[in-house]
Amino acid sequence: MSAVLDVSTGQSLEQRIHQLGAQLWKIMQRRKPSIFERRWLEERLMNWAMSDEAIKVQMFRFVDVLPMLRDHIAINQHLHEYFEDVRSHLPWAVRVGLDVTDNNGVLSRALAFNARTNASRMAQRFIAGSTLEEVEKSLKKLRDKGFAFTVDQLGEAILTEEEAIAYQGRCLDLLDHLCPEFNRFPESTQIDRDHEGSIPRVNLSLKLTALDPSFSPLDAEGTSRRVKEKLRPIMRKAQELGAFINFDMEQNSYKELTISIFKELLEEEEFLTFSDIGIVIQAYQPASGDDLQDLLTWVKKRGTPVWIRLVKGAYWDYETTVSAQRGWPCPVYLEKWQSDANYEKQSRFLLDNREWLKPAFGSHNMRSLSHVFAYAEQQGIPQSAYEIQVLYGMGNDFGQVLVEKGFRVRIYTPYGELIPGMAYLVRRLLENTSNDSFLTQSEKSDVSTEELLKAPARKSTSKPVTEIPTPTSSLPTFGISSQADDMISTSETNPKLKFENTPLIDFSVAANRDKMKKSLGEVRDQFGASYSLLIDGKSYETRTQWTTTCPFDCNMVIGRVSLANTDHVTDAIEAARRSFGTWSTMEPDYRAEYLDLIADKIEQ
Ligand code: 2OP
Repeated sequence: MSAVLDVSTGQSLEQRIHQLGAQLWKIMQRRKPSIFERRWLEERLMNWAMSDEAIKVQMFRFVDVLPMLRDHIAINQHLHEYFEDVRSHLPWAVRVGLDVTDNNGVLSRALAFNARTNASRMAQRFIAGSTLEEVEKSLKKLRDKGFAFTVDQLGEAILTEEEAIAYQGRCLDLLDHLCPEFNRFPESTQIDRDHEGSIPRVNLSLKLTALDPSFSPLDAEGTSRRVKEKLRPIMRKAQELGAFINFDMEQNSYKELTISIFKELLEEEEFLTFSDIGIVIQAYQPASGDDLQDLLTWVKKRGTPVWIRLVKGAYWDYETTVSAQRGWPCPVYLEKWQSDANYEKQSRFLLDNREWLKPAFGSHNMRSLSHVFAYAEQQGIPQSAYEIQVLYGMGNDFGQVLVEKGFRVRIYTPYGELIPGMAYLVRRLLENTSNDSFLTQSEKSDVSTEELLKAPARKSTSKPVTEIPTPTSSLPTFGISSQADDMISTSETNPKLKFENTPLIDFSVAANRDKMKKSLGEVRDQFGASYSLLIDGKSYETRTQWTTTCPFDCNMVIGRVSLANTDHVTDAIEAARRSFGTWSTMEPDYRAEYLDLIADKIEQ
């Protein structure tokens, strides 16, 4: 990649990235908030609170529960419960606050008021308003500053059909309300046009899990049918009013389903030529390259282009924790530089295929974006053929510099109530406080511009990467080897004693769903059979039988099982007691092997 030379300047891509990045960085440095601005103090406070892991955890817990706390007594109780344990980490001023014991006193009320005000200020930084009117005002302000926007109604992973209907209704209202308002403004060439012509001014980002309470890959067909029903009216309205719809990407387990709903809808007759539509691809997933390739093949067949918002991904903490807990392969890169490197690779893919997959680059990382600018420039791609997207409250300053440089910058602008927005807020706090984030790195005075703009590479080497290793399973080993090393001396040397639990099946993978369907089909032929008791190798039919039926169809008999009487139970216990003697004197290796065999059988 660094070999790409610009014929006009003779510069390598890497040199140009550094040159562009350094220019942007210089302008950015002049824009830093002064110590007299509130934002400066807020950033310092946040950095302080989040630099201590113990406080950070308690802070997240507290922020999470705060919107549900009705009065100052409840707030103070929670403050005490959460922060008592990390008391020694807190500065004296906060400790004094925690010492307030009189629940109804003025001090207690003041403390609760403070906590609530600070949390809502933090939320206001990332959320542009709680009502349609408020967000409309914010969007107009953004437009005045030269920004385009994509508006997002907060809410995801809803629990009831009423919430799904309400989310859909609010999307429709939003389009009805905003389109005539914004379409009235005089056209801005920078944000209302791309290299081919006009583009929609109202751009709506939505999350599919907000449209169906039972959104689940376990029921891919049902989910897809229900979500498409909810989406059609929104897409019709967008077509009618000239708005843009973007499908957000959420957790990995929803990815396959989200992409297939996107494709299926866009193959329907009425949406076949709809091109003001996009989807998100997350570069922290090693699979993102294949997903993009697959979308390219599909979109060429469809014949109308779509937009791709390329991001790194906002669910890293979730994905790594959940995959480790379930024993599934980790779907995201474990190291930040790998996601950065893949982001660059996929950026080039999108720019090369921009005719079909129109690129929107969602990032706050100056290196990643400088790479986009330099590559586009060297390939002779006009600035208006792609756009940059940043998050409200996170990328405004950087975005402003890019606006002045003539780029189309779209701000992802969420609005809504705090409770449905909590998951969003927590993702922003995690990003803002992650030590790996570009924003955090760029705040540090000891990190040089060169360091910030360096090509993604493993920390120990400075060589840019050509190959990004795929993450292996982040599965911790359970069982004998990790828990009882001190009791079984052979565990280190005998691999047979390494025991790993079989993980549950991941049904977000289509191949696993198909396999399960096939197995259920095979098992169906055995339904209704009788099962006798088996004691000490002998089988016993008894007169009393227990009939098990299918939970969703009581007429379907799964099997009839003979029931034991007290004599059978006594015999079984006796048999077990006799066997125990032999079992307990057997070599541990042999016993382990035996258990392994049984486990394999069960797994099959
Ligand atoms: C999120 O909700 C911005 O869609 C991204 O975190």
